[in-house]
Amino acid sequence: MFRFSCLALFLVLGSEIQKAYTTEVSVKDKDNKLCLYANLMVNFTVTYEVVGKSNNTVEFQLPGVVNANGSSCGTDNSTLKLSFGRGHSWTINFTKEKEMYKADDIILTYNLSDDSIFKNASSNGTVSVKFTPSIANVVVDTYYSCKSQDTVEKDAVKQTLWNVALQAFVINGSKSENETVCAKDKASTTQVPTTHVTSTTPTTTVIPPTTAPPPVPPPSTGTYKLNTAGNGTVCLLASMGLQISYNDSLDFQKVNLDPNKTEVTGTCGSNNSSAALVLTSDKIAVAFTFIEEGKKFFLHAVNVTVKHINGTSFNAANTNLSLWQATVGSSYMCNKEQTQNVTDTLSLYTLKLQVQPFEVKNDKFSTAHECSLDDTSILIPIIVGAALAGLIFIVVIAYLIGRRRTYVGYQTL
Ligand SMILES: *[C@@H]1O[C@H](CO)[C@@H](O)[C@H](O)[C@H]1NC(C)=O
Ligand SMILES: *[C@@H]1O[C@H](CO)[C@@H](O)[C@H](O)[C@H]1NC(C)=O
Ligand SMILES: *[C@@H]1O[C@H](CO)[C@@H](O)[C@H](O)[C@H]1NC(C)=O
Ligand SMILES: *[C@@H]1O[C@H](CO)[C@@H](O)[C@H](O)[C@H]1NC(C)=O
Ligand SMILES: *[C@@H]1O[C@H](CO)[C@@H](O)[C@H](O)[C@H]1NC(C)=O
Ligand SMILES: *[C@@H]1O[C@H](CO)[C@@H](O)[C@H](O)[C@H]1NC(C)=O
Ligand SMILES: *[C@@H]1O[C@H](CO)[C@@H](O)[C@H](O)[C@H]1NC(C)=O
Ligand SMILES: *[C@@H]1O[C@H](CO)[C@@H](O)[C@H](O)[C@H]1NC(C)=O
Ligand SMILES: *[C@@H]1O[C@H](CO)[C@@H](O)[C@H](O)[C@H]1NC(C)=O
Ligand SMILES: *[C@@H]1O[C@H](CO)[C@@H](O)[C@H](O)[C@H]1NC(C)=O
Ligand SMILES: *[C@@H]1O[C@H](CO)[C@@H](O)[C@H](O)[C@H]1NC(C)=O
Ligand SMILES: *[C@@H]1O[C@H](CO)[C@@H](O)[C@H](O)[C@H]1NC(C)=O
Repeated sequence: MFRFSCLALFLVLGSEIQKAYTTEVSVKDKDNKLCLYANLMVNFTVTYEVVGKSNNTVEFQLPGVVNANGSSCGTDNSTLKLSFGRGHSWTINFTKEKEMYKADDIILTYNLSDDSIFKNASSNGTVSVKFTPSIANVVVDTYYSCKSQDTVEKDAVKQTLWNVALQAFVINGSKSENETVCAKDKASTTQVPTTHVTSTTPTTTVIPPTTAPPPVPPPSTGTYKLNTAGNGTVCLLASMGLQISYNDSLDFQKVNLDPNKTEVTGTCGSNNSSAALVLTSDKIAVAFTFIEEGKKFFLHAVNVTVKHINGTSFNAANTNLSLWQATVGSSYMCNKEQTQNVTDTLSLYTLKLQVQPFEVKNDKFSTAHECSLDDTSILIPIIVGAALAGLIFIVVIAYLIGRRRTYVGYQTL
C-alpha cells in the first residue's frame, strides 16, 4: 500500500514537473574494464518545420536511460555514442595528445519522424548537427568537471550542457579522483571546490572569493612644475596630495598619485587663454585644464585615465567645472582635504593643495587665495570678532562700575 502511494505520487510529480535528468554512462573496453565515464545533463531546443510550412520549437532532454552501445575506446581516440528515444543519438569523440585530451566534436542526430517530440513534422528524415565543444586541455588521468552551463547554437538547434563530470582514456579501469575544472567554473567565485580537489595539479586550483581591498593610505604631497619654454622658467606651478576614487562597474576604488613616479607635461597659458597640467604616473593619468576669464582663473576640466594590470583602462572626464577659483596673478590654496565629484564614477580627493596656472613669477607661488574650508579663513574673523566683543564687554562693564562708584561717592560725601 505504502509503496503504491509513493509510486502514484512520483507519477503525478513526474507528469506535472519535468525532471532534469542526469545521464550517467560507463563504457567498458574489450577486457571489460572501464575506459570512458560520463555523468552530465543536456537540454536541446530544436526548431523544425511542421505541415503547413510554419516552424515549431521543442525542448527535450537527454534522458536518464540511454544506450551507449555505439561507443568505443582507443588508445588515442575514443567515442561516446548515446542512443536514445526513437532513433536519436548524441555523440562526442575525444582525442588524446601527450598529457592532455579534448573533445573534438559533439554530434546530435535527431529523427523527425519521432512524433512524441516532433509533432506534425513536415519531414520524417533524420538531421545531424555538429557542435564544437569547449571540453579541452583536460589532463590525462583526471576527469573534466564543469557545473556551469555551456550553451552552443547551430542551425536549428540549441544545446545546453551542464553538471558535467566525464573522463575519457580512463587508466586501469578506475576513474580518477582528480579533476580538471573548466574555466567557467573557475571564473565564478561562488564555486565551491569539491572534496576531491587536490592542490597538486595546477588545473584544480579554484580562485578564492574576492576579499575587500586593503585600505588606501593618504596620498603623499608632490610639487609639480611645468616649464614649456625650455629655459627653466616655470609657467605653471602646483602642489598637492592627490587621490582619485573611481567606480569601475562594481565598487569605488581608490588610487593615489605617487609623486615619485609622476611625470609632468602640459601647456602654458598665454594671453588670457587656458593652461593644462597633465600628471602621468605608472597607474593613472590626470589632466587638469584651467581657464583664465576676466581677472580670474578656475579649474575647467578634469580627465582621468586609470590603467589596469590586465591592459584595460578606466576613463572619466568633466569639461564643465568651475573649481579652484582665484584672481590671476595669485594662487589658489586649500590645505584641508577636499573631495570633489567630477562625474558619477569619479571623484578627486586633494590635500595641501596649491595651484597657480597663470603668471608664475620667479618659480614661486604668489599670494594665495585660500579656500573657505581652511581653518584660518573661517577662524580669523571668528577670533577677531570674539576678541572685539570681549573688549567691548570689558569697556562697558568698566564704564558702568566707574559710573556707579562716582555716584556712590557723591552720595557719601
Ligand atoms: C532543461 O529542460 C528542462 C525541461 O524542458 C527545463 O525544466 C530546464 O529548465 C532546462 N534547463 C536548462 C538549463 O535549460
Ligand atoms: C523555419 O526555420 C528555418 C530555419 O530554421 C528558416 O529558414 C525558415 O524561414 C523558418 N520558417 C518560418 C515560417 O519561420
Ligand atoms: C548493446 O549491444 C549488445 C551487443 O553488442 C547487446 O547484447 C545489447 O543488448 C545492446 N544493448 C542495448 C541496450 O541495445
Ligand atoms: C583513431 O585511432 C585509430 C587507431 O587507434 C586510428 O586508426 C584512427 O585513424 C583514429 N581516428 C582518428 C580520427 O584519429
Ligand atoms: C571524430 O573526430 C574526428 C576529428 O578529429 C572527425 O573526423 C570524426 O568524424 C569524428 N567522428 C565522430 C563519430 O564524431
Ligand atoms: C516518410 O517519408 C517517406 C518517403 O519520403 C514516405 O513514403 C512516408 O510516407 C513518410 N512517412 C511519414 C510518417 O511521414
Ligand atoms: C591525483 O591526486 C593524488 C593525490 O590525491 C596524486 O598523488 C596524484 O598524482 C594525482 N594525479 C594526477 C594525475 O594529478
Ligand atoms: C624663458 O622663456 C620665456 C618665454 O619665452 C621668457 O618669458 C622668459 O623670460 C625666459 N626666461 C629666461 C630665464 O630666459
Ligand atoms: C618618494 O621619495 C622620497 C625620497 O626619495 C621618499 O622619502 C618617499 O617615501 C617616497 N614616496 C613614496 C610614496 O614612495
Ligand atoms: C580624456 O583623455 C583621453 C586620453 O588622452 C582622450 O582620449 C579623451 O578624449 C579625453 N576626454 C575628454 C572628454 O577630453
Ligand atoms: C580588468 O581589470 C579591472 C580591474 O582590475 C576589471 O574591472 C576589469 O573587468 C578587467 N577587464 C577584463 C577584460 O578582464
Ligand atoms: C559626491 O558623490 C557621493 C557619492 O556618489 C555623494 O555621497 C556625495 O554627496 C557627493 N558630493 C557632492 C558634493 O555632490
